[in-house]
Formats: sequence, structure tokens, C-alpha cells
Amino acid sequence: MRLAALAVAALLLAGCGESARRDGPVTVVFKHARMFGDDPVPRLVAAFEARHPGIRVKTEALGSASDEQHQFFVINLEGSLGPGRGPGFDVMMLDVIWVPEFARAGWLLDLTTSLAPGELDGHFPAAAAAARWSGRVWALPWNWNVGLLYYRADLLERHGLAPPATDVELTRAVRLIQGRERDPRLEGFLWQGKQYEGLTVNALESLWASGTDLLGPDGRVLPDPARAEEALYRLYDLIQRGISPDWVSAADEELSRRAFGDGRAIFLRNWPYAMDLFEGPGSPVRGRVGIAPLPRLRGDVAAPGATGGSLLGVSRASRHPEAAVALARFLASEEAQRVLAGGSVLPTLMALYHDPALLAKRPHMPVLHALSLVARPRPITPAYLMLSTSLQPELSAAVVGVKSPARAVADARRALEYALSGIR
Ligand code: GLC
Repeated sequence: MRLAALAVAALLLAGCGESARRDGPVTVVFKHARMFGDDPVPRLVAAFEARHPGIRVKTEALGSASDEQHQFFVINLEGSLGPGRGPGFDVMMLDVIWVPEFARAGWLLDLTTSLAPGELDGHFPAAAAAARWSGRVWALPWNWNVGLLYYRADLLERHGLAPPATDVELTRAVRLIQGRERDPRLEGFLWQGKQYEGLTVNALESLWASGTDLLGPDGRVLPDPARAEEALYRLYDLIQRGISPDWVSAADEELSRRAFGDGRAIFLRNWPYAMDLFEGPGSPVRGRVGIAPLPRLRGDVAAPGATGGSLLGVSRASRHPEAAVALARFLASEEAQRVLAGGSVLPTLMALYHDPALLAKRPHMPVLHALSLVARPRPITPAYLMLSTSLQPELSAAVVGVKSPARAVADARRALEYALSGIR
């Protein structure tokens, strides 16, 4: 059965170039998230088409929220493998957390043998790890993200403060600056508390700062309940004390990025894409924003940011797998990542973070590289989305104070253990 499938795939691969020459260009569809700022995709696609006259690329953008993209892909891929069916796209931009799930479901073409030896070397190790599942390569690293703290460098300087290294310092800075600036519109610390994947990311970062994790080394869910309670209490307490406005419990990346970008907050937890928008022409905070590691909860426990970003996968139901693989490899290549790095997206290739030509345009890249090397991935498991979506209502209830952290942790453990029992 497997061999037959491989033989068919080999025939398809071998035949694709031929049919392109005989019947005119083939069209591959690339489904990707909407890009912020200066969208590099049209330029990259034009460069690819110029080099592959037998291939046309149609791009289709999805919304920017990871959860909605996931829903779109799952619905379309679920029905895609039957005879005569297809998902309607060939190459897809995958969030780092989806690859094991999609590979296990049989939706992705196994790219292992299509790649040159060492083709994944040079990418962030966490990005290459997100591409692999069960000893095979299912996707190519493309964009990189790392959670970090933005601060208003101008305000900190005006009040003689250094970027805060801990929650205590951050609190002190917020109180002092708000007290002296007397601007009722100036909020303290913004982050993402809406019930969605971003909340899971913020809560994981808080768990790590508490010295614990979502899954223990033995796979146990929330292995240290006391520290998990502390991590959730921390988020709730930021809002209770007014260090964060109560609307952070409904904020995603963009809502919080816009408020900070309008000059209405002192601190923001977000991803690197925001920096380029802060530095854009006409931005009220241009030249006034600094980047720092996330604040520690305790001085002696590290507070790594979460890793994020996306990879490129090829649908196993693609009718033009050879052309689709060629497109994915081109988009993930150093040449294409250099174009990405010139815009607001960060590349996964580490060498570009110290490339003099790019540094002239994005001077903060070495800092982002350093933060990336100490960052942590979310759990790599086909059950990730199920874990995260089971967790989100409990996190949200704790953040807004509908449940005590102890109750939310106990309920989360029960929900997650139940979700995992169906998988194990
Ligand atoms: C960013 C990250 C992605 C993460 C999402 C959460 O898009 O790149 O990995 O899942 O934010 O909102």
C-alpha cells in the first residue's frame, strides 16, 4: 500500500515537468497569512516565475489570526484526499505549532528526499525542529518569531530608568512614569489576553518565568500546580493592580500593537514584526522604542520568550507536487529570506541576522538573534492545538478573575488529561 502510494507519487513527480512543457504552464496556489507592512510575497513570486516559465503561482491571503488559518486549513484538508478531490491549494504557510498534527493526518507531502543534504542547517534549530516529525521533514522553515518586551526608550530615559529586568522593576517604572507624565491615556504594560492562541503563548511565557511548564518531562500536564497558579495569578494581578489595562483580556497582537504604536503605552509584549511598524514613516513612536527580554518573575529564573513563526508545507493532494516543492524551496532559500528580512518579517536563517546590508536597514537584528537563541518552543506534538484550545477557556477565566488560579489550574489539568487520553 505504502509502496504503491510512493510509486504513484514518483510518477506524479516525474510527470509534472513533462506536462508543464506539453500543456503550457501549470498553476500552483500558495495560501499564506496576510503579511504586515511591505508585503514581500508578490516580489518573491515574480522572481520565482521568471525562473520557472512552466509554473504560474496564484497567491491567496488568509487573515492574520493563527486560529482562523488553522480552521481554514483543517476544513479544506480534511476532505482533500478522496479521489478527484483536492484542497484547492498546493503550498501552505503553516504556523510552527501545526506540522506534527498535519503530518500525522496525512495532509503534507513528505519533503525528506526532495531536499539537498544539510538544507535545514543554518535555520534556527527550533525552526528546523518544528519542520520534523517522526524522523521525516514535512515543511521548510520560513518566518521566525520570538516573544519580547518593547519599551518606550524616550520615556524611560526622561525619568532616568533602565529597561526593567523583573516584574518589580516594570511595576515601579509604570507607577513612576504614569505619576509624573499625568497623561490619563498612557497605559502601563500591554500583552495578549484574548481567548486564542496568543493567550496560550503569553501564559506559557508566564509558566516558564515561574520555573515550570505546560507538560513535564514525563508528559504530565501542569506538573507543578503551585507554580502554575503563581503564573496565572501574575497575569490576573497585572490587571488588578492597573499595571495592565483591563482590556488586555480582550487584546490580540494587533490591538495591543496599535495602542503601543499610537503612543498609548509604556511597555508591550509582542513579536518582532511590530518593531518595523513602530519605525515606519509617520509612526508616532518612531525612534522611541527599545527591545528587551521579557521581565523575570523572580530574579533567579529565566523568562524566555516563546518561539513562533511559520513554515511552508506542500499538500499531499497537490496535482503539481514538483512545482509546489520548487516554490516552497525557493521561498525558503537564502535569496528569498533576504527579501523577507528587508521587510517586517524575520527570516529563519541565522546568518542573515548579522548581514551588514540588512543591518543597515534593521539594526535590531542581532538583539533579536540573541533573544531567539534563549527562547523556548511550545510543546511539539500532534495534539498541540487540542491542548491549547482546551487550555484557553481556563486561562481566560483566570485572567479576568472569573475563576481563582487554583481552580483554573485544577480544571485545566482535568481538561488536558482528558484531551490527551484520546491520543495516547
Ligand atoms: C504569531 C506566531 C505564531 C503564533 C501566533 C499566536 O503569528 O508567529 O507562531 O502561534 O502569533 O497568536
